[in-house]
Amino acid sequence: MEQIHITDVSPRDGLQNQQVAVDTAAKLRLIQLLAAAGVQSVEATSFVSPKAVPQMADAAELVPLIASRLPALRTSVLVPNLKGLERAHAAGAREIAVVLSATETMNQKNINMGLRQATEVSEQTLRAAQALGLRTRAYVAVAFDCPFEGETALDTVVTLALRMHGAGAGEVVIADTIGSASPGMVKQRLAAIAQAVPRDQLAVHFHDTRGMGVANAWAALEAGIRRFDASVGGIGGCPFAPGAAGNVATEDLVLMAERSGFATGIRLDGLLDAIDFAETQLQRPLGGRAITWLRRQRDKARAATG
Ligand code: COA
Ligand code: ZN
Repeated sequence: MEQIHITDVSPRDGLQNQQVAVDTAAKLRLIQLLAAAGVQSVEATSFVSPKAVPQMADAAELVPLIASRLPALRTSVLVPNLKGLERAHAAGAREIAVVLSATETMNQKNINMGLRQATEVSEQTLRAAQALGLRTRAYVAVAFDCPFEGETALDTVVTLALRMHGAGAGEVVIADTIGSASPGMVKQRLAAIAQAVPRDQLAVHFHDTRGMGVANAWAALEAGIRRFDASVGGIGGCPFAPGAAGNVATEDLVLMAERSGFATGIRLDGLLDAIDFAETQLQRPLGGRAITWLRRQRDKARAATG
C-alpha cells in the first residue's frame, strides 16, 4: 500500500482558538495519545505574541517536554517572524513553520504586516532556520478564498509557493484557512501550484467548514499530493479568520485514506482515545463526520471481546 503522511495540527490549530484554557500537562497528554495512536508528526504549538494568542503562551515549556517524552515524534512549531524562531530554537524545536497569507488584508489581520513584508520576513525566517539546522515548512494561507478579500488570485498563490520553495521550505503547505475550497478548485489550483513546487514537497491543509474537507483531501490525493494536515476530532480554526470552522478531522482522513488503499500508520481506536481526552478538556462533544459510526464500531468490538 502506498503511504500518506499526516501531520496532526490539533495541539496548535485546534487549541489556538479555544475558549477553555488547556494547561501544558494536558497538551502533552493529548500529544502522547496521538503518538500512541501512530501519529508520526504533529504541529505542537506556536511561538507567537502571547497577547495575540494567549492559548499558545506556554510554547517554551511544552516543546522541551515533548522532546524528552517523545523523542521520535516529528514536531513542528509555528513561528511568524525571527523573534518566534529565536524563541523556538532556544526551546529546542527542530522544525518550524512560517505562516504567509496570500492576501494583503489577511496578513495584516494575522501578523500585522502587509503581503510584501510578510513574504520577506517568511523568507528570512526560513533561511535563518536552515542556518540553525532546523527543518522547515511554509504555509501559504487563504490559498483559495480570503475572509476579507474574497477569492484569492491563483497567480499570487503560485508565486508565493515558489518563493517559499526558493527560500528552502522543505514543505509548502497550501492552506484552505476558512474551509471554502471545493474538490474542483483543489484539482485546478494544485495542478497550477505543482508546476512551481514538486508534488512531494507540497502538503495540503483543509478546514471542514462546508463539509468538503474529506472530498478536498481526495481531490488532493488524486492530484498526487501525499502530505496532509488534519486535526483530531476536527478541532481548529484561526482566531483572525472569521467564519473558519475546524480542520478536516484526522479520523475522517485516516478512514477515507485506508478505505481507499493508502496506509497512514495511524490506528482509529487510538484516535478515539485522543478525542475522548480532548472532549474532557474542552468540555464539549468533538469529532468529525464519522465519529458516531467510529464509536459504534468500537463499542461493538468491546462487547465482542467482553
Ligand atoms: N513571540 C512572542 N512575542 C513576540 C513575537 C513572537 N514571535 N514577535 C513579536 N513579539 C513581541 C515583541 O517583542 C513586542 O513585545 P513588547 O511589546 O513586550 O515589546 C510585541 O510583541 C510587539 O512586537 P511587534 O514586532 O511590533 O509585533 P506586532 O505587534 O506587529 O505583532 C506578531 C506581530 C506576528 C507577533 C503578532 O501579530 C502575532 O503573534 N500574531 C499571531 C498570529 C497567529 O498565531 N495566528 C494564528 C495562526 S495562523
Ligand atoms: Zn488551519
